[in-house]
Amino acid sequence: MKTLSRRQALVLGAAGTAAVAVGGGGLLWAQAPFRAETGERLKEPGNLSSQGRVLKLRLEAAPARIMVAGRPASVAAYNGSLPGPTLRLRPGDRLRVVLVNRLDMATNLHVHGLHVSPTGNGDNSFVRVEQGESFDYEYDLPANHPSGTFWYHPHHHGSVADQLAAGLYGAIVVEDPERFPVTRERLLVVSDISLTGSGSLRPPSAAEQVMGREGEIVLVNGQVRPLLSATAGDRERWRVINACPARYLRLQLEGSQLQVLAFDGRSLAAPAPVDEVVLAPGNRTDLLVEAVYGTTTLRAASFDRGSMTGMMGSGQGPRTEPVDLLSLDTSGTQRSGLPPVTGTGRPRDLRKEPVAARRRLDFSMGMGMGSGMGPGGMSFTINGEVFDAGRIDEIVSVGSVEEWTLTNSSPMDHPMHLHVWPMQVIQQDGQSIPGPRWQDVVNIPARSEVKVLVAFDDFPGRSVFHCHILDHEDRGMMGVVEAR
Ligand code: C2O
Ligand code: CU
Ligand code: CU
Repeated sequence: MKTLSRRQALVLGAAGTAAVAVGGGGLLWAQAPFRAETGERLKEPGNLSSQGRVLKLRLEAAPARIMVAGRPASVAAYNGSLPGPTLRLRPGDRLRVVLVNRLDMATNLHVHGLHVSPTGNGDNSFVRVEQGESFDYEYDLPANHPSGTFWYHPHHHGSVADQLAAGLYGAIVVEDPERFPVTRERLLVVSDISLTGSGSLRPPSAAEQVMGREGEIVLVNGQVRPLLSATAGDRERWRVINACPARYLRLQLEGSQLQVLAFDGRSLAAPAPVDEVVLAPGNRTDLLVEAVYGTTTLRAASFDRGSMTGMMGSGQGPRTEPVDLLSLDTSGTQRSGLPPVTGTGRPRDLRKEPVAARRRLDFSMGMGMGSGMGPGGMSFTINGEVFDAGRIDEIVSVGSVEEWTLTNSSPMDHPMHLHVWPMQVIQQDGQSIPGPRWQDVVNIPARSEVKVLVAFDDFPGRSVFHCHILDHEDRGMMGVVEAR
């Protein structure tokens, strides 16, 4: 795809030039495979915490030449690090970000999952920050904002996948009111990236864009399969963010169960023991891990996200290969002396509240010719329409609860994301979900249906919902919702 390679080149900007200079004597260098830097200790991004109810920062999106998988790579990053700094806030805080655009293309900023206003200089996806310019964002977290794990990334329509794949993402943690009883907490931002031998970004093919691109190298906090160490008896809380543009993470901890504390920044009523947790692109989970003597691996198992039979003339579907994310090395023994983890949240159940309106959103992919078509002549639509920033697709009333039926008439999964308002999943393929399950990205499996309830309690204004396979979003699988 010509246009995409151009975009990729633009994202690289100055660092791309530097790469050429550095790589001058680099034929050998270009041939050396990327080393899997296993055994490197886990690093965490730098933290920026609010002081006196405000966190003010300058966030510069710029080309960067940094080490990825043991080699210098030309990426794009926030404040020169991959991931960008972790923003630590408390409910009721104000977050002020001066976004500086040093990329060679337009960008903007989205605070994924935060329940904040979508208007003006808030979480407004319609803002466009041109290259060389800056924009002052200001977000006010309500005093009752949930504590949890959120994240930020660019949202400029048409280049979201490229910018995220280039390295632009970072975590947001809304801290608990009281200290959570764990020995330590870890932040694990999972991303993927494809690099050429000389360390520049490899643009995706048309087919990869139709499927949703999966980077060849999977990173945790910018590292390949880092090592964590603990003492037997330690109790850890892992905040895991899926910042991949399209890869699903079916998380399994070798030889043990996982305990889910929270999903998409919303605490469950009690920790839930499970064998695996699937994170669609954009999802987060907070896990409780009890360290036992020995070495264990956090793995993303293989995942089928549909089949393209009858679509691309082959039965090949997008299938995600398994990958080891990190290893946890536990030695010695001690008693943690920590109090037990009890009920963490009291999630609201919207099934007890009256539904003011019902609507249906159908996610589909079609073959065709003409304008509005994406790579491979494929269109990506919601209710038959390609995204148009000037059109309002759904009008909802502030203060109402709505039931949305999300259908997928295409042969591959689409993770649906709604900004500002989280969704309570109540039914999947005719099966009702027992307890309250809150998410801000909900996977709609191929050829199936999911029902969600949404409480539009506050925040009038225009916002968006879209597929979080970002190549699909960029090709038009997005709609506009206005709350009035
Ligand atoms: Cu994480 Cu509209 O995006
Ligand atoms: Cu979002
Ligand atoms: Cu999709």
